[in-house]
Amino acid sequence: ETGHFTYDPGFLSTASCRSSITYIDGEKGELLYRGYPIEQLAEQCSFIEVAYLLRNGELPTKTELEDFDNRVRRHNMLHDQMNRFFTGFRRDAHPMAVMVGVVGALSAFYHDVLDFSDAEHRTVSFIRLVAKMPTIVAMAYKYNVGQPFMYPRNDLGYAANFLHMMFGTPCEKYEPNPVLVRAMDVIFTLHADHEQNASTSTVRLAGSSGANPFACISAGIACLWGPAHGGANEACLRMLEEIGDVSRVGEYIERAKDKNDPFKLMGFGHRVYKNYDPRAKLMRQICHEVLQELGLENDRLFKLAMALEKIALEDEYFVEKKLYPNVDFYSGIVQRAIGIPTSMFTCIFALARTVGWFTQWEEMITDPEYKIGRPRQLYVGAPRRDVVPLDARG
Ligand code: SDX
Repeated sequence: ETGHFTYDPGFLSTASCRSSITYIDGEKGELLYRGYPIEQLAEQCSFIEVAYLLRNGELPTKTELEDFDNRVRRHNMLHDQMNRFFTGFRRDAHPMAVMVGVVGALSAFYHDVLDFSDAEHRTVSFIRLVAKMPTIVAMAYKYNVGQPFMYPRNDLGYAANFLHMMFGTPCEKYEPNPVLVRAMDVIFTLHADHEQNASTSTVRLAGSSGANPFACISAGIACLWGPAHGGANEACLRMLEEIGDVSRVGEYIERAKDKNDPFKLMGFGHRVYKNYDPRAKLMRQICHEVLQELGLENDRLFKLAMALEKIALEDEYFVEKKLYPNVDFYSGIVQRAIGIPTSMFTCIFALARTVGWFTQWEEMITDPEYKIGRPRQLYVGAPRRDVVPLDARG
């Protein structure tokens, strides 16, 4: 019993920690941030509001939100010397490699707030990370395509400013489309936190040694990069391009079921959800709205994805294994429609998840009972034996 939710004893033995941030009921397909259903947050709140909620535990009042939003806007620039980190990479470097390097390097710039027993130091670090991640992601994109970096605009909201830094150029004023702005904001919210997933567990384990949050979040970015985790949206779009046509869906469904074939249906299945990932439903809705706004209702890949989902959900293997679309199944299609290149999808996932990573890190280091993480192992190696001198080893 944890007050509101009950767990069976078997589950408790697998739990890595106690947390009050995010609750997932995998059987029901339910996701709550600080008790609020993700559906209501996506519908009624901005990402900045959700970021405040996740970190502070309560939704902000109007005044609190204005103050938080203003502080974020005034921290969205990067130290000018950090530009050199970007120019040190090859132009064709994967943007996630750039993110790991640049975010980790933030530790080298902010010695003024490294006393994490001080709540204000933690607040300043949180605001700096939330504010600078969009700037870093957009700079990684601009560097990749050979365009000049765009400075943030403090007259724009968080998502609009991100799209401005991504797609604006010094040559003409860029006014983000409100439908795309809302879509971006919801995409950030849907990716903000997800309890103890692989990358969050990485951040917690790194932080348990007392490492600073910038370095811990750089470790989280590295873990998220993997195709089984945050890299799945990029892999899912490549899979849809490879399938190419509804007539070939059956062939790939059979491959996904074949234990001798390493192929997995990208964007399908989940370690926790054994029902529809609520984020996937919201992402499909956002996808539909963006495609409609852009006159792409007949988008080939969207139609292919919906056909694939329908066929898979009627297949007894997927039904029996409880495999449903997850957050990554539609997120690539909507980001591609907005104009974001495939290689940037996981960077955007990392941008949003920085809120959850920081919040989970802070929950851990402010827990008086926390200790450095030290998982044990089951040793299955050689028994005790003596060294044979080199010239006697044959
Ligand atoms: C994210 O943890 C999080 O919360 C992560 C995340 C977050 O917000 O942080 O939600 C983000 O990482 C979402 C997941 C993105 N990854 C993908 O979409 C990649 C494709 N999915 C698979 O790699 C897989 O579903 C995993 C890795 C996500 C989960 O794999 P598991 O742990 O094997 O899942 P399972 O135990 O439910 O699988 C049951 C069976 C297994 O077969 P058997 O061992 O029973 O014979 O279903 C099979 C699996 O092999 N299976 C699949 C499959 N996913 C699971 N078979 C075909 N296609 C798939 N996609």
